[in-house]
Amino acid sequence: MKKSLIISLMVVALVCVFALPAVIAGNAAPDQITMTAPEGAKATKTAVDFPHKKHVDGGLDCMVCHHKSESKDAIQSCAVEGCHVDASKAAKKDPKGFYQAFHSKASKASCLGCHKAEKAAGKAVPVGCKDCHPKK
Ligand code: HEC
Ligand code: HEC
Ligand code: HEC
Repeated sequence: MKKSLIISLMVVALVCVFALPAVIAGNAAPDQITMTAPEGAKATKTAVDFPHKKHVDGGLDCMVCHHKSESKDAIQSCAVEGCHVDASKAAKKDPKGFYQAFHSKASKASCLGCHKAEKAAGKAVPVGCKDCHPKK
């Protein structure tokens, strides 16, 4: 009896030690993300290096960019069902299309929308195509 209790406690302790970091990592913001066109879509531009940590350290709130996520503990990527999943040419101008997620000038949640506003305010931020999509 006593022995089985000890074994149970050890199992619980082990689960905590190994599972907890995974749970925390699941919500942790990555430092650097290489962003590419979604699977199945043909990339016409080079991949984009996105310094995630730099943006967070700059004081931006998580929910400015992750505007449709439930909370900052339940962050989803941009190209998920119901969000910016459509990378077809037909959806290029659609605010919910893949392209506008990153280039909409009307939204502060998009890379280009926010950067244009920041640039107008005097900040040095990338706004040219080649600044984000460098030539191969
Ligand atoms: C501030 C950064 C940034 C700037 C500036 C920028 N883009 Fe993008 N672009 C992205 C991100 C992020 C993605 C999504 C990841 C990917 O597909 O590479 C993307 C994706 C794309 C895509 C769809 C994927 C592909 O490879 O075909 C096209 C087309 C594109 N950009 C064209 C442009 C053009 C043209 C310009 C200049 C008018 C531009 N981008 C400026 C960040 C930027
Ligand atoms: C400047 C905009 C911006 C801010 C601010 C920001 N993020 Fe992100 N985050 C992104 C982008 C863009 C991605 C890449 C999404 C993708 O690959 O589709 C991302 C990815 C993530 C991911 C990985 C999601 C996945 O499943 O791929 C997590 C987790 C995350 N962010 C959490 C956070 C948290 C927590 C904060 C606040 C402390 C935060 N982010 C602030 C733009 C931002
Ligand atoms: C809500 C505003 C906002 C959004 C959205 C945003 N950025 Fe930025 N970005 C900034 C600001 C502010 C800086 C300047 C940071 C600094 O120098 O402290 C910056 C700087 C950068 C830099 C230059 C970093 C350096 O080392 O100088 C890159 C690259 C960049 N952003 C890429 C992106 C990409 C790619 C996206 C979209 C996936 C994006 N940003 C979305 C506000 C934003």
